[in-house]
Amino acid sequence: MDLGLNGKTVIITGAASGIGRACAIRFAQEGAVVAASDIDDDKLRDVVDEICAAGGRAFSGHADVTSADQMQRLVDMVVTDCGRLDILFNVAGGAQPLPTHTMSIADYHRVIALNLHSVFFGVRAALPAMLQQGRGTILSTTSGAGLNAVTGLAAYGAAKAGVISLMKSVAVEYGRAGIRANTISPGPMDTPGLRAWLDTYPDGAARYGRQVPSGRLGTAQDIASVAVFLASEAAAFLNGAVIPVDGAIHARLATPGLDDF
Ligand SMILES: NC(=O)c1ccc[n+]([C@@H]2O[C@H](COP(=O)([O-])OP(=O)(O)OC[C@H]3O[C@@H](n4cnc5c(N)ncnc54)[C@H](O)[C@@H]3O)[C@@H](O)[C@H]2O)c1
Repeated sequence: MDLGLNGKTVIITGAASGIGRACAIRFAQEGAVVAASDIDDDKLRDVVDEICAAGGRAFSGHADVTSADQMQRLVDMVVTDCGRLDILFNVAGGAQPLPTHTMSIADYHRVIALNLHSVFFGVRAALPAMLQQGRGTILSTTSGAGLNAVTGLAAYGAAKAGVISLMKSVAVEYGRAGIRANTISPGPMDTPGLRAWLDTYPDGAARYGRQVPSGRLGTAQDIASVAVFLASEAAAFLNGAVIPVDGAIHARLATPGLDDF
């Protein structure tokens, strides 16, 4: 199915690893021109090289998402070089699991900056270009921890809940201007980011996978498939939504083992 993304310009943050990496590759496979952004320049180069070697169009744009100035420079570079910005996908983020009462103020600020300020900085930088074009799509990444509570993820969850609210505000405020804003809520996706946490538990990946009603951890490609649809005209009337891509783990309440059949 042709999603009509050929030639569209997309910025993807966190593109050097996991979900961002898979999305950069998938958008390029759909014909988009991918501005792959991250702070990990070595891994970013690998992704861009992989896309270009496969015949896709991509270039790297180093930007720390916690810096409003760097996000503005990234958007300005893309608009100058490509003439437009069609899609912004805010993927960069990460958790630092800690009991709430042990979290330092500095850690709290770091988590909020990485997961919430980052999205505002990206949105703020991208909107003027999209308004001028009269169209644009913004996707952001929340988490199950932004929908419901996860022990040890209070600050991360608060930031990710803020992302949902921020994206709904953008959808409502700019819908008439041709701009859509939607949020993807990944379940447990088997990425380097999740592995770093799961591997602190014995047999962590397998045990977590068994808790997912669909019977497995997700893959970064599971998110990429949904992201290209959300960014496409096939989703033209989908705006202000939160889409769980989670094998139903967010849909589930705990039970005394009755679901083990
Ligand atoms: N993997 C999951 O199970 C899962 C679940 C829910 C939500 N998420 C969210 O999905 C997103 C991607 O997760 P992932 O598992 O692919 O992560 P990952 O750790 O594999 O990759 C994250 C990428 O973000 C980059 N990054 C970190 N700090 C940055 C900064 N300040 N500026 C720019 N780039 C920065 C890293 O270098 C890395 O390349 C995150 O927002 C995460 O919170 C992931």
